[in-house]
Amino acid sequence: MKIAVLSGDGIGPEIVAQAVKVLNALKSDGLKIEMEAAPIGGAGYDAAGDPLPASTLDLARAADAILLGAVGGPQYDLLERPLRPERGLLRIRKELNLFANLRPALLYPELAAASSLKPEVVSGLDMMIVRELTGDVYFGEPRGIEVRPSPNGGSERVGFNTMLYSESEVRRVAHVAFRIAMKRDRKLCSVEKANVLECSELWKEVVIEVSKDYPEVALSHMYVDNAAMQLIRAPKQFDVIVTGNIFGDILSDAASMLSGSIGMLPSASLDENNKGMYEPIHGSAPDIAGRDIANPLATILSVAMMYRYTFGDSRTAGRIENAVKRVIAQGYRTTDIWTEGATRVSCSAMGDAVVKNL
Ligand code: IPM
Ligand code: MG
Repeated sequence: MKIAVLSGDGIGPEIVAQAVKVLNALKSDGLKIEMEAAPIGGAGYDAAGDPLPASTLDLARAADAILLGAVGGPQYDLLERPLRPERGLLRIRKELNLFANLRPALLYPELAAASSLKPEVVSGLDMMIVRELTGDVYFGEPRGIEVRPSPNGGSERVGFNTMLYSESEVRRVAHVAFRIAMKRDRKLCSVEKANVLECSELWKEVVIEVSKDYPEVALSHMYVDNAAMQLIRAPKQFDVIVTGNIFGDILSDAASMLSGSIGMLPSASLDENNKGMYEPIHGSAPDIAGRDIANPLATILSVAMMYRYTFGDSRTAGRIENAVKRVIAQGYRTTDIWTEGATRVSCSAMGDAVVKNL
């Protein structure tokens, strides 16, 4: 198994180093793993003047799976948009056709106190957000900022993006979501804004069409504003959510706080053949970069997802997930999930603790 390791920026290198420790431990147990690192995001810009250097994209194409840290940092905010770190991430998702983004939100019972919601609201939470990742207002054309006539005379700048989904884009991500629902509690909620947006109206129609292939799955529909409210009010009503790129971006950040910290949540971004890129859902956290205090568990859990979804090895996935469960049960906490009485550990100490529990 060849893994492209793209650490990126900010805390990216620190958290990815912990996941690499886990991979090396698996390797010394006999699993065949090859790793090769390449720069992406701001690191790509620094190394090659491009947030997705051609050599990084080639490596990612050649690899069986990709492990990514995070991209972005204030030092890159003034670059022209195509050179910004985020553009590197969006391009690699698009180039590799990683349209299905799986974002589980799961609460470890010991972390109930770290959630900002009442323990009874979140305990036992186990849901999956399936976010479409290569379409929507993120990629729709036309887009831009231009000068147009102003209603009060003269002219002014306007900014615009296009929310756009084709039937085929909706269909393929809907199939992924229904298949995942079939392996879980067989409940799927499609989230859109069909009361206002034509794009959402089409989304809903296509999801209903696809649902005919999955009669055992109970399909429901929810407007995104209501879904945001329901996620905080009663999150356990959800099993699988399927939604578009921008709504999924927002809802998955909200859902992450149900599980105590955004530092706990992994993700998988898959193409048609289950080739995937695996990354924590959080960002590069430049404010804490280089201090060895970030939470590496989301990245380590992303490796577990890699074994489950791309390598089809749920035994190894389970081994990694169990090791994480154990370190949590043993009371190890990075700062973001620390509560009174627990053992506060650094990012690298957390990585070591997971390796020990493997
Ligand atoms: C995410 C991030 C990215 C996104 C940014 C960094 C481009 O927020 O993975 O959720 O919006 O998709
Ligand atoms: Mg996001």
